[in-house]
Amino acid sequence: MNKLVSIYPGTFDPVTNGHLDVIERASGLFEKVIVTIAVNQNKKPMFSESERKDMLINVTSHLKNVEVDFFEGLLVKYAEEKKAGVIIRGLRAISDFEYEFQMSLTNRKLNPEINTVFLMPHEKYSYLNSSLVRELASFNANVKEFLPEYVLKKLEEKFKQ
Ligand code: COA
Repeated sequence: MNKLVSIYPGTFDPVTNGHLDVIERASGLFEKVIVTIAVNQNKKPMFSESERKDMLINVTSHLKNVEVDFFEGLLVKYAEEKKAGVIIRGLRAISDFEYEFQMSLTNRKLNPEINTVFLMPHEKYSYLNSSLVRELASFNANVKEFLPEYVLKKLEEKFKQ
């Protein structure tokens, strides 16, 4: 396992400024960051996998050590395939803690060589999540502050369809 290679998993439906903040912090800490989209048959995302990938590639294009990928199945197995020693997760508020704590310990049980590193996004994004942004946008509310410009454009297009 390479301790300088990290993976940042999530649904990214769509990627928000909060996610981007975490990605930028991770990019400054690790040699390589693989942002990986979870393909989850139980979630019904608004954006397809390829749309989410396109948005992630676009908003991280200024970060040369960031790659975008997909994964399906067990996260630890994916990390092993990529030889990544670190899983990145964002911690926004205390409410994230219990779920993240459980995931982190379970993943460590599955592979003790893989550690989870928690990064705190800027406090101005601490209450943000993708469903909130999607809901606001569906009511035509202003979500400019929460999203990278490219994502904002894609979200607007989605609601025009
Ligand atoms: N800024 C803004 N929003 C953020 C955020 C940040 N920094 N960090 C998380 N969020 C939001 C997301 O937008 C998402 O919002 P939504 O639910 O409204 O769509 C929510 O928080 C959940 O975060 P996300 O990072 O997408 O995680 P998830 O819970 O969907 O995904 C996986 C978790 C994919 C990492 C986990 O389910 C997994 O590992 N699955 C693979 C199967 C596996 O290995 N299971 C065993 C795990 S122990």
